[in-house]
Amino acid sequence: MNSLYTLSINDWHPSLDAQQSLAATQALESGQVLVLPQLPFVLAAHEQKFLDTRWSDQKSKNISLRPQANAVGTPFMKGAIGTELELAELRGMIQRYADNACSLVAALFPSYAKQLKVANTSYRPFEVENRVSSYRKDDTRLHADAFPSNPTQGTRLLRVFCNINPYGKPRVWRVGEPFADMAAKYLPQTRAMLPLQAWLMHNLGITKKRRTDYDHRMLQLHDLLKADMDYQRHAPQQQVDFMPGTTWVVYSDQVLHAAMSGQFMLEQTFHLPAEALYQPHTAPIHVLKSMQQSSF
Ligand code: SIN
Ligand code: FE
Repeated sequence: MNSLYTLSINDWHPSLDAQQSLAATQALESGQVLVLPQLPFVLAAHEQKFLDTRWSDQKSKNISLRPQANAVGTPFMKGAIGTELELAELRGMIQRYADNACSLVAALFPSYAKQLKVANTSYRPFEVENRVSSYRKDDTRLHADAFPSNPTQGTRLLRVFCNINPYGKPRVWRVGEPFADMAAKYLPQTRAMLPLQAWLMHNLGITKKRRTDYDHRMLQLHDLLKADMDYQRHAPQQQVDFMPGTTWVVYSDQVLHAAMSGQFMLEQTFHLPAEALYQPHTAPIHVLKSMQQSSF
């Protein structure tokens, strides 16, 4: 099993020919992790101070930037504390990462250009290891991303990560088996959504959009997988150490992943309709649908 597709890109604005970007798009959609070991996000001198957990408000685990600007035209940042000037500098650093991630994906996946939507950017200053949480929130267990209050309705979650640890510490992940192999084991254990359930959750403000049957199944897969310690230990998997200065790109709704250790990382999320893929049948929504048709 090789879950990695390595590229020697060393520029956030790379020029790729059509064949190179097609190969990258196909690798990504087939569930590989695109690894760019020579693509660091370099901090300016005045940004080095942000490599510290004291900038967190200690309530949220990440500091995040929303792409939508407020009335004054400043992007909204959540989870950070500091003076006005410090917060402006921090926002500037995260925004520069967002801009770099945008130009990178534009070069890697030109066929997505028209339909790709920029979502949140996050800065993750905390050490991942030994963080205590409920099993559902425990990202040291293999999972594909699915969030209770944020239904995607089948839209893809494309993420660009970069390890900016200044002490040589890798971000250690486990990458699991192909999505379809996992789904074949667990989809039969999932249930359909109850009538009215989605409507109620949306109208009570529990979900931001209406939860579809797809979202409902993805959440159950997420929870079933995290609850199964036998699966966590014995399912096919590969440990990957992302060294500082490494950038990697994944469909996190498809690639089974677990973050085992590491500190200081930036991440940009993009949304893409499943129909905008080069190979739409690789989307989890289509994988699950075809399995449901054949076995339910
Ligand atoms: C996750 O998406 O599960 C966590 C990734 C990370 O923090 O490295
Ligand atoms: Fe995740």
